[in-house]
Amino acid sequence: MSYLCKPNTIDHSMNILLLGSGGREHAIAWKIAQSPKVESLFIAPGNAGTSLVGTNISISVNDFSAIKDFVLTRKVNMVVVGPEDPLVHGVYDFFAEDADLKNVSVIGPSQKGAQMEGSKDFSKAFMQRHGIPTAAYKSFTSASIEEGVAFLKTMKAPYVLKADGLAAGKGVLIINDLQEAIQELNSMLDGKFGEASSTVVIEEFLSGIECSVFVMTDGTNYKILPEAKDYKRIGVGDKGLNTGGMGAVSPVSFADAVYMNKVEDRIIKPTISGLASEGIDYKGFLFLGLIKVDGEPVVIEYNARMGDPETEVVMLRIKSDIVDLLEGVAEGNLQEKELVIDPRSAVTVMLVSGGYPGYFEKGKEITGFNKVKNSILFHAGTKTDGDKVFTNGGRVIAVSSYGKNKAEALAKSFANAEKICFEKKYFRTDIGFDL
Ligand code: AMP
Ligand code: GLY
Repeated sequence: MSYLCKPNTIDHSMNILLLGSGGREHAIAWKIAQSPKVESLFIAPGNAGTSLVGTNISISVNDFSAIKDFVLTRKVNMVVVGPEDPLVHGVYDFFAEDADLKNVSVIGPSQKGAQMEGSKDFSKAFMQRHGIPTAAYKSFTSASIEEGVAFLKTMKAPYVLKADGLAAGKGVLIINDLQEAIQELNSMLDGKFGEASSTVVIEEFLSGIECSVFVMTDGTNYKILPEAKDYKRIGVGDKGLNTGGMGAVSPVSFADAVYMNKVEDRIIKPTISGLASEGIDYKGFLFLGLIKVDGEPVVIEYNARMGDPETEVVMLRIKSDIVDLLEGVAEGNLQEKELVIDPRSAVTVMLVSGGYPGYFEKGKEITGFNKVKNSILFHAGTKTDGDKVFTNGGRVIAVSSYGKNKAEALAKSFANAEKICFEKKYFRTDIGFDL
């Protein structure tokens, strides 16, 4: 009987811990949970959505000692890091340097590798060393403020000023007036963004259309995941304040094969080989924020993680078992793994709390889940109380859909966005408008 059957070669024994609590993490958890290799999936701290596909545990992403205890007690084999914060704080190195943890895989770069996101000065210098196309720049501190002012005077408006360190997505200022730019330079170096702006990068303004490209790497080999475009402004027509992201689409029509070949040759290859040649451990996701200038790709920024809300479309387009790919990342044999991409379009529309990105209220009951058909809901800022779900952040739920094209996918997401109800719900009705 069963002993005559072909043995099941899939090892269902992976225990995975995913760090994070946003829509990105729900999308990654949703994809991981589909893998036959997984025995248990834990999410720390997670949200109401991640509890539908795994077990939430109440540990903060930066509490490394609590993470260690949990990993050892629950025999976790792999830790997948969603947000940048624990990476910049060195979670990879914490595991690598601990005798009890060093055999646990961490998907995410070392602290040094996370500097690609954690320090604009570091990433700009890296690109310069490796001949990777990016805007011309110089960095300044309070000791070189006069040189900074002189540099600004050599530039043309608009002026681009960037806090070197992590500033919760608020550290980039684009200013039209020279006097105002000089004032902002002073106030940034004077602590406007705390320690993050003790160094300021001033760079050339680039004009073009942006998209996000995602790479999975084991430090030597890489796979290029589906590209996406996100919509950062709160208002229709890309107007108003910047947000964490109001929606995304994939594929991106202007990122055609010719463009993507240039991205691979001029940016991805020198980045991966540059990290390796500098002895920087990088096993995880690399996010390229690109701008297309006169048809050519230029790097605006690197991130050491996946994008949000881009992940809420990228995961839909990965057909392969993501855990198999992540094992390739951890074990250094990513070239042996298969990445199959779904040719369909995927889009996501973010439902946000009224008032966001300014002041907004939390704790509004969310209803209508059972009316949603033909979309996948990824929770961003939600929490459960008993069997009810409540808003718990500015970005609340990402409504993701497939379609044979972008228009078909968007029609599903917009229809379902209407069916989910909470007080003061808002969403953009023009995601993908410019493609
Ligand atoms: P970053 O945090 O570096 O991605 O910058 C945030 C946003 O500012 C980018 O997505 C761009 O829209 C814009 N930006 C950053 N750098 C430049 C630049 N050099 N020229 C034009 N826009 C820029
Ligand atoms: N969507 C842009 C980011 O995740 O930084």
